[in-house]
Amino acid sequence: MGTKFDEIYNRSLREPEAFWSEAAADIHWIEPWREVLDASNTPHLRWFPGGKLNTCFNCVDRHVEAGRGEQAAVIYDSAVTGTQRTLTYRDLQDQVARFAGVLAAQGVKRGDRVIIYMAMIPEAIIAALGCARIGAIHSIVFGGFAANELSVRIDDCTPKVIVGSSCGIEPTRIVSYKPLLDEAIELSNHKPDTCIIVQRPQEEASLMAGRDITWAEAMDTAEPKDCVPVDATDPLYILYTSGTTGQPKGVVRDNGGHAVALQWSMKNIYNVVPGEVYWAASDVGWVVGHSYILYGPLLHGCTTVVYEGKPVGTPDPGAFWRVISEHNVSVMFTAPTAIRAIRQQDPDGSYVEQYDLSSLRTLFVAGERCDPDTLGWLERQLQIPVIDHWWQTETGWAIAANCQGIEALPIVPGSPTRACPGWDVRVLDSSGNEAPTGDIGAICVKLPLPPGIFPTLWNADQRYRDSYFGKFPGYYETGDAGMMDENRYVYVMARTDDVINVAGHRLSTGALEEVLTSHPDVAECAVIGPADPLKGQLPVGFVVLNAGCNQDSEQVIASCIQLVRDKIGAVAAFKIATAVARLPKTRSGKILRGTMKKIADGEQYKIPATIEDPAVLSEITEALSCIGYPLAS
Ligand code: COA
Ligand code: AMP
Repeated sequence: MGTKFDEIYNRSLREPEAFWSEAAADIHWIEPWREVLDASNTPHLRWFPGGKLNTCFNCVDRHVEAGRGEQAAVIYDSAVTGTQRTLTYRDLQDQVARFAGVLAAQGVKRGDRVIIYMAMIPEAIIAALGCARIGAIHSIVFGGFAANELSVRIDDCTPKVIVGSSCGIEPTRIVSYKPLLDEAIELSNHKPDTCIIVQRPQEEASLMAGRDITWAEAMDTAEPKDCVPVDATDPLYILYTSGTTGQPKGVVRDNGGHAVALQWSMKNIYNVVPGEVYWAASDVGWVVGHSYILYGPLLHGCTTVVYEGKPVGTPDPGAFWRVISEHNVSVMFTAPTAIRAIRQQDPDGSYVEQYDLSSLRTLFVAGERCDPDTLGWLERQLQIPVIDHWWQTETGWAIAANCQGIEALPIVPGSPTRACPGWDVRVLDSSGNEAPTGDIGAICVKLPLPPGIFPTLWNADQRYRDSYFGKFPGYYETGDAGMMDENRYVYVMARTDDVINVAGHRLSTGALEEVLTSHPDVAECAVIGPADPLKGQLPVGFVVLNAGCNQDSEQVIASCIQLVRDKIGAVAAFKIATAVARLPKTRSGKILRGTMKKIADGEQYKIPATIEDPAVLSEITEALSCIGYPLAS
């Protein structure tokens, strides 16, 4: 058991350059690389320096040239509008070449940034590939973020053009994206030259003369553009993710290493073959969407599904099973929270039985730890392997997985199995020594990191080095805590920082706190993320009101909740907060969020020796009980 996997894994660490240069043969290069890995400026690694390629050519044109022109490249299935559309690889090539022409006509050149802020529609994919085609750098911003978050990203990456859609469609409402975009531009110091807007029939947006143009008109008159060669080390995209402060981190992805790693992962981790249908039920605004709705399946010549809908309520908990059976999905990827939502509404799996799911071979989950109970339920319903795998925006692909294309290892519920080839995972104690087997510590990866990882943070080289490589020299610190067992199975248990995971989305409690403290009636606050049976974690806020505040505390709480929705967005799912007289702190003034979370989760806790006043813990227990914590099991 594991012999074949061990052989490949060990070789990937022993001879990383030989290993990844062989994998690189599956990518079309315009010019070969000078060197496989340049580690002279560690930790800023450069994979395949000197190599020239075009990611869009590898995703689209080469498949048309190889005879896949009539194969479906993108199946758009919109459960919220009841529409479907299929783009063949030839259609995609035509549309992407035209959109590249639209960008070029607006003066976008290699290295310029383009923000994409839109709904889950094929135009999002076309826009991103259009950027890649001419060497521009895209930054997709998830539609659930508010104007303020979008404006922070506009100021950070200073886009020449923003591509948007007039609206997004949630099950119960239309989200007017264009007014949010206008507000974001108003708030930001940097102004884009042009906004290109997809007008959706559900709600057309008003356009600003001289700045805004419609997608349809621009495409009508566009001059198609060919792929330009870019350096392997040129940025392909920037994707912002939560850090420990309100300032998001702009994770940079290169072209060469990314293409090599993703294509390798399609074959070796997901075990799909070109021509098969691969579906990641995520959003292009998240890393899962970037890697496995957009780039991975298209690099590999698969058909990708762009699903606009939810696991439940669009219209029922059979939505996923319908998509699998209608489009013959071979391999699917989703988040455990989506499965919990389906199970909550259909515990007996009666909707599963209504569909022919015989095309589905494997279902992968990631985004948060998959609890053994959810994994077991899904395995029983589907009777296929359900594979948990662990990764992050920063890594772009799985750090640990059960690599189905190499050798299927035994599934151990609660573990994403073993470190993937290329990842030398170690669990370190607080002094940087390797923790004994079974002990919890900081999960780190010994350098060098494999291709596909982020070479830096946009405009923030120092932050990159400090945040990820500062604490344990020679290692990448993942920010996750966990352990490894005697079979080298990895267990990812919690974050070591203040990041919480809400419905598979990563949120910084620090960023939520920054918004709450900006409220004029709030003196100080703390946000924790107690466990939630549906979303994994939910943010819960504690606010201490200013002395002399003459507002009713319930009113202040309601306006705090609205403020977070306005400043960060609905995606924060911040709906529970309470006013308290004071917060538990150490004598040096540190808020004891860990202890508060334990109380909220109904766990045993020790009164910290450094606490200023232990009596405050009973006040917190009381406040939590008033808002229903600990939850009834
Ligand atoms: N644009 C605008 N608003 C959005 C949005 C988008 N793209 N996506 C979500 N929102 C809004 C929702 O409308 C909701 O607003 P509300 O507070 O007015 O109801 C809020 O953001 C939270 O949305 P969501 O996280 O989808 O929660 P939900 O309660 O509506 O649904 C689940 C719960 C579990 C069904 C849902 O979270 C889900 O499908 N999760 C899967 C997550 C996933 O795929 N993660 C990707 C990582 S792999
Ligand atoms: P994101 O960058 O938004 O994809 O979030 C990455 C974080 O989500 C990781 O650092 C983990 O904390 C968590 N995560 C993702 N996948 C898993 C998994 N399979 N098991 C446990 N935690 C996970």
